[in-house]
Formats: sequence, structure tokens, C-alpha cells
Amino acid sequence: MSEFTTTQTGTPVASDEHSLTAGPNGATALHDRYLVEKLAQFARERVPERVVHAKGGGAFGTFEVTEDVSAFTRAAVFQPGASTETLQRFSSVAGEQGSPDTWRDVRGFSVKFYTTEGNYDIVGNNTPVFFIRDGIKFPDFIHSQKRMPGSGLRNSDMQWDFWGLSPESAHQVTYLMGDRGLPRSWREMPGFGSHTYQWINAAGERFWVKYHFTSNQGNVEIDAAEAELIAGADADYYRRDLYEAIEAGNFPSWDLHVQVMPYDDAKHYRFNPFDLTKVWPHADYPLIKVGTHTLNRNPQNFFAEIEQAAFSPANTVPGIDISPDKMLMARVFSYPDAQRYRVGTNYNQIPVNAPHAAPVHNYSQDGAQRHGFNAPTVPVYAPNSVGGPAADAAAAGAGSWESDGELVRTAATLHSEDDDFGQAGTLYREVFDDAAKARFVDTLTGQGSSITVEDIRERFFQYWTNVDAELGATLRVTVAAVLAL
Ligand code: HEM
Repeated sequence: MSEFTTTQTGTPVASDEHSLTAGPNGATALHDRYLVEKLAQFARERVPERVVHAKGGGAFGTFEVTEDVSAFTRAAVFQPGASTETLQRFSSVAGEQGSPDTWRDVRGFSVKFYTTEGNYDIVGNNTPVFFIRDGIKFPDFIHSQKRMPGSGLRNSDMQWDFWGLSPESAHQVTYLMGDRGLPRSWREMPGFGSHTYQWINAAGERFWVKYHFTSNQGNVEIDAAEAELIAGADADYYRRDLYEAIEAGNFPSWDLHVQVMPYDDAKHYRFNPFDLTKVWPHADYPLIKVGTHTLNRNPQNFFAEIEQAAFSPANTVPGIDISPDKMLMARVFSYPDAQRYRVGTNYNQIPVNAPHAAPVHNYSQDGAQRHGFNAPTVPVYAPNSVGGPAADAAAAGAGSWESDGELVRTAATLHSEDDDFGQAGTLYREVFDDAAKARFVDTLTGQGSSITVEDIRERFFQYWTNVDAELGATLRVTVAAVLAL
């Protein structure tokens, strides 16, 4: 016999189909507590979607260290032979929960490692750089990508107005408008930590690192026409692809590499190595392999395990820390703040966010939906003299850097090759082949001709002229031709 239905508090219920009424056609009784419970629970099913990266999907996996990078970090997760359970979520940035997966956008690439020293998250993208280099601009940048307050429509003018007035965006916009803006699937794209992070080894020596996940499925892109067709036919194209691949036992994997910069190099490198709009040339800092990340288990419940998942650059472990990247420091504040609001004060007690391989010992208590708690014999304050958990700086293995100076608000740095357009130009001229360049010009022609304000369009031309003079000149002609039609 199958189980009988109960209320949330375990009492058997009389019917799932008929409300309690005064006679067959009479008023519904307010004391039909099961009807009330059902409707009330239903009305509360949604939590706010992520303010960015709302549309996504994910799976669980395993990270296996195949090499020895212990000279650079003491983190248990990256020690030779270590194997760690992981959760990965992929996403698009600007669209809402139901938006089509194949709209042109940057893709999120978040990995949570459930390490023996606590959870470690790399919350990156499929591009190695970003649009801005100071977190104070992030809300404005996102507003310009989302919808107009009046019409509720997305708008090319405000997008290009923001980019044109934020020349540091040129490198990332070149990636976005190039083929990388339209991957064929989440499985067939790379991932990057993007920021510079800090590693600390067992001897306390510090290094600056950048993470690169290279797809063992290869990098495959689709063209704009195909992406548009798919967007109409199957909004969940990427989500379906990942789920079905894993169900079929076709487990996608990525090799993790790092670029490692000795701590002191940062002071004299030719450009600011903490500038998120720049890549480090591989000729200067070659890729060093760490291990392989494989996704091998679909979630059993999308809401509980993917929607409620909370990734954060603030989740670091001993032997890994952040760097003096202004964007990264803003993110360390912003993610836990967003998640306390989006999921709730005790979001880290939800199984998908709680550590799976490390215990939690601290003095935080109470709050809405509190689930875990200390034994009543554990003291509720620190310091204490009755044997409660004690903080231990040596165990924490945190990094640090020297910092001195007046409080200022400035973009100025001390490096000779800091600029906005150099690496964007190199990407266009030296990385894109002729076919990719042609597709890029096509995409930008569409973008330029969708701008309706003349000043903004003029800045668009100037922006691309700064990236590459010939490209700027070409766009003036191609956009004019479309506008003349
Ligand atoms: C200062 C700049 C930034 C701020 C303030 C910011 C803020 C946020 C916030 C509030 C969320 C939603 C978190 C949640 O509700 O769980 C989010 C999600 C996300 N952000 Fe950022 N972000 C910034 C820059 C970046 C950068 C540079 C990257 C990549 C290199 C990035 C990648 C992501 C990803 C992948 C997610 C989705 C995480 C997931 O899968 O759940 N963000 N961001």
C-alpha cells in the first residue's frame, strides 16, 4: 500500500481534491487547515531570483589533483592525490530565470569545493577578464544591461552609453561580441577565476595566481543565427544538454591550470596584475596543471540544490586568499549579503551550502530557520575559559599584502603599461582568425546600427577605433550602410 498524505506536521489528511464546504455548494470553511496550508505554502514557493546570473543550471562532481602544486599552496584541496566533492553552477548574467540560454552574454562558471578545511568557491566566468575594474560601478553596469524602468525592455542605447563611457570594458566587450559570446553548451566552454588570487604555501610564502579551467570537450561555439533559432525553440538548451549528458553517463570534465606569479613580481610587472580587465600573457606566466574536475551527478532537486546554492568569493580556505583587486574586495562583501537576503540568514546551514567534509564550530546562533546548534554544554561567547572552540591564526593560513597610503578615490596605478584598449586590440588582431573577425564585424554592425542616439553611436565608433583603427573605420562604413537601408 502506498503511504497516506499528511499535513506538514504529519497528520493524515482527508482529501487532496475537495475543500471543506458548508454543504456541496456552500462557503468554504476557513478552518480547512489543509487547504490553507496548501495555498499558503504554494504562495511562498519562490525566493527572489539572483539579481544577476539568475538563469542557470548545475551538477555535482569530483575534483582530482593529478599534479604537485604544494610548492605554491598548502590548501588541502590542491595537495597531491586529493579528491574532493564539488558542486558547479553555470549561468548567464543579464537574463531572468526563464530567459533563453543562447542569448549572447558572458557565462558564469562557479565551482564549490567541499574541502576538508571548509568550502572553497571559485566564482568565475567563461572569460578571463571583466567589464569594469572597480566594484562601485557594478550596479550601474548591470542596470545598463537589464531592462528600462518604463518599458521593461532591454535597450542598446543604455548598454553602449555605459560601455562607451567606461573604456576599461573594451577587452571584455571584445570577448563578448566575438565567438566566445555564444558557446554551444556549458560543457564546451572554458572557465576562469578571472581575478588574481593569492596562494600561500606551508612555509608561509605567497604567490599570485589565476585559475583556468580548460574543457576536455573542446571549445565549441555557435553562430548568431543558430543561437537565435535555438533561443526561440528551446530556452533551456544548455540546461537540458548538461542534464542529459550526465544522465547518459557522458561526464563532462575540465582540467584546472594556474598561472603563478611570484609575490614580488606584482610590484614591478608592466601592468597592474590585479586589474581584472587584463590577462597575464602565458609567455610571462605559463599554465601549470593542477588536476581535473568532472561533473558526474545531477541534482535530485533543482530548487534545493541549485537555486538555493550560494557561491561566494568570500569562501576561501587555508592556503588561499584574495588579492588587492578592488572588484574582488567588493565581491567578498556582496555575495554573502545577497545570499542572506535571497536565501535567508542561515543559508549556510542548507545542505548544499553547508560544508560536507569539515565540521562547523563557532559562536553564531539563532536567526530565522535555524537548523543546527551547539550542544548546551558549549559556551556561547569567546574568549571563554571552559574549553569552547578557539580561533587559531596558524590553522587559518590566511594571506596578506603590504598596504600604505592616504585614503583616495582614484584609478591611478604605478604600472607603465596600464591602459584600456591594448589587450582588446591584441585579442582582435592576433587571436581572432579572418572568419572570426568577419563574424565580429557583423555582430558589431548589428549593435552599432541598433543605437538610436547619435552621440552614443559616435562614441561607439571611437571606442572601436581605439581598439583597432581599421576596425573603427570599417564599422563606420558598415553601420552607415545598414542605417541607410
Ligand atoms: C564588484 C563586482 C561584482 C558584484 C558586486 C557581483 C555581485 C553578484 C551578486 C550579488 C550575485 C548573486 C549572488 C547570489 O544571489 O547567490 C552574483 C552572482 C554571480 N557572479 Fe557576480 N558580482 C560582481 C562581479 C563578478 C565577476 C567579476 C564575476 C566573474 C569573474 C562574477 C561572477 C558571478 C557568477 C558566476 C555568479 C553566479 C553564482 C552562482 O552560480 O550562483 N561576478 N554576483
